[in-house]
Amino acid sequence: MRLCEWWNISKPHAGRRRTIPSLGALPSVGGAAAAAFAGPDFRGELSIGELAELTREAQPNVSKHLKLLREAGLVAVRRQGTRAFARLSPDLNGDPLLADAIRSGRALCAEDGSLERVARVIQARDEEARAFFEQSSDEVSALPVAEWSAYLTALRTLLPKRGLAVDLGTGDGALVELLAPLFDRVIAVDRSEKQLEAAARRLSSHGYEHVELLQAAYDDSAIVDRVRELGGADAVFAVRLLHHAPRPQQLVSLLGTLVRPGGQVVVIDYGSHDDELMRERQADLWLGFDRDELFDFAKSAGLIDPEVFAIPAARYGPGPDAHLKWQVLAARRGPKEETRPS
Ligand SMILES: C[S@@+](CC[C@H](N)C(=O)[O-])C[C@H]1O[C@@H](n2cnc3c(N)ncnc32)[C@H](O)[C@@H]1O
Repeated sequence: MRLCEWWNISKPHAGRRRTIPSLGALPSVGGAAAAAFAGPDFRGELSIGELAELTREAQPNVSKHLKLLREAGLVAVRRQGTRAFARLSPDLNGDPLLADAIRSGRALCAEDGSLERVARVIQARDEEARAFFEQSSDEVSALPVAEWSAYLTALRTLLPKRGLAVDLGTGDGALVELLAPLFDRVIAVDRSEKQLEAAARRLSSHGYEHVELLQAAYDDSAIVDRVRELGGADAVFAVRLLHHAPRPQQLVSLLGTLVRPGGQVVVIDYGSHDDELMRERQADLWLGFDRDELFDFAKSAGLIDPEVFAIPAARYGPGPDAHLKWQVLAARRGPKEETRPS
């Protein structure tokens, strides 16, 4: 049976009722795709390469199948640089036939093992980044003005809440250098030993005793436990981390979990761009994010008062990402929320 017959759609017809038989009727790209798209969030989409790995089909076959699904209006394809990412068409939201088909497709994909591979395929998204940041990081970037630490110690009086700040994916600790004089306690997390060594070197001259550098993946439950033990953070930061996150939505939700009610979440990342070299040279996974996408992440994380704004280019130095547009997503956790599910 060919895919288009299986979907029972040779051409979408206005006014003709679609029938969508079980997705599992054919262990196909469509089946695995739909089952996977309906799974846990990972930007809700899969690349052609990921679909090929999931379905164990050759990429040209995957592309062919996706083309049919796209023509039938079932799948939407988004390009980012040279890569294409497919997701279920948003127009199908709430379609009961499709929901039913996805349910049975998921069951069959679970049986044939392809569903189980989804998590591994998503996890593999940031393997290159893991290796990249473990390369030696001997060079600590230019130190800021020597007096900044003193000035910030005075400026901390301007912050209404300055108990705990958490910096996920801290790298060589540049932000910690600013946060440490402002907050009573700072927890900085990175999974790379090399990066944390560089952060420790950067901070060593200040003798900060209220800064904890923790080597862990940001979604390690030990991090959530540690922050909860301290009553939650007043501010949580993820700077240039989101574009490395296999599941960016999940990362923003995690930030929301770490802040206490009324606390602030701050993400700095790039606007959408098409510089493929950032993947090769900096192990970036995503080529930035649209404003709307950032608003959606904040909304899905249950955060309030989201703002997205650009950082003027003159403020971000000469690094390998100086040509990109940097933007901030700032949002808060509602003040009245008590505990929320982890
Ligand atoms: C581009 S660097 C940004 C460093 C720093 N925030 C900055 O803006 O200068 C990304 C950092 O995130 C870390 N990272 C990536 N994925 C991570 C994960 N799953 N858990 C913890 N750290 C991670 C990398 O090791 C790297 O140090």
